[in-house]
Amino acid sequence: MGGSLEKKDKLHSEKLPRHVAIIMDGNGRWAQRKGLPRTMGHKKGMESIRKVVTTSSIYGIKGLTLYAFSTENWRRPREEVDFLMALPQVYLKRELPELMRNNVKLCFSGRLHKLPDKTQNAIGEATRKTENNKGLFLNIAINYGGRAEITDAVQKIALLVQEKKLDPGNINEDIVAAHMYTAELGDPDLLIRTGGEARLSNFLLWQLAYAELYFTPVLWPDFGKEEYDRALLAYSSRERRFGQLSRELGD
Ligand code: FPP
Repeated sequence: MGGSLEKKDKLHSEKLPRHVAIIMDGNGRWAQRKGLPRTMGHKKGMESIRKVVTTSSIYGIKGLTLYAFSTENWRRPREEVDFLMALPQVYLKRELPELMRNNVKLCFSGRLHKLPDKTQNAIGEATRKTENNKGLFLNIAINYGGRAEITDAVQKIALLVQEKKLDPGNINEDIVAAHMYTAELGDPDLLIRTGGEARLSNFLLWQLAYAELYFTPVLWPDFGKEEYDRALLAYSSRERRFGQLSRELGD
């Protein structure tokens, strides 16, 4: 059980990541292996979301970013896209009371204006309802692409320059970071990707510069507390140097 792993290997809170990002991969394969339609994998994947959200809240992790729909996912069969687009409403209808009880603050990042009206309304309402919550900051990336995000940031910064509010010579990393979709959340410390692939797939390209990467073959619908503990434990045992030598960090 996850609990025993926690006790045995000591998941110390001071070594927990502040912000975790997850590429939830493998829903389709999970369903196909069971002879089910791919969409059933996405449905089951929502249960894994519930488990990582609850566990993150209990552990006091500050931020959790989940990759729910990429700018490339529009190329999937129409039926699957429609199903995925309806999931935020289904998820929020089912989970919002529990998210409120757990003091979770929700936000959504991506090119949200391109989403169907119903989806926009549901996520807008959930964002407003939870905006004063002070617990876990749950960021759901939807119609999200890392390059699209950087492009949008460049456009916003170019506008400031055009309006003479910013000198091009004063553009620095802090200014670029401040124009990312959810600047207030900060960079993830740990990226988890399920489903056996070892790539970033256009996720948080700017923010993952110094993140620890954790890849597991476990398919997302099979990812629960025990698997999450394993990833957090692996993170806690790594030494993060941010390009420096250990000695410079005072080890
Ligand atoms: C990748 O699996 C998963 C997705 C494209 C969608 C993930 C979405 C959810 C788990 C639910 C979203 C929930 C909310 C709250 C909006 P895949 O289909 O690429 O799997 P495969 O690699 O096995 O084909």
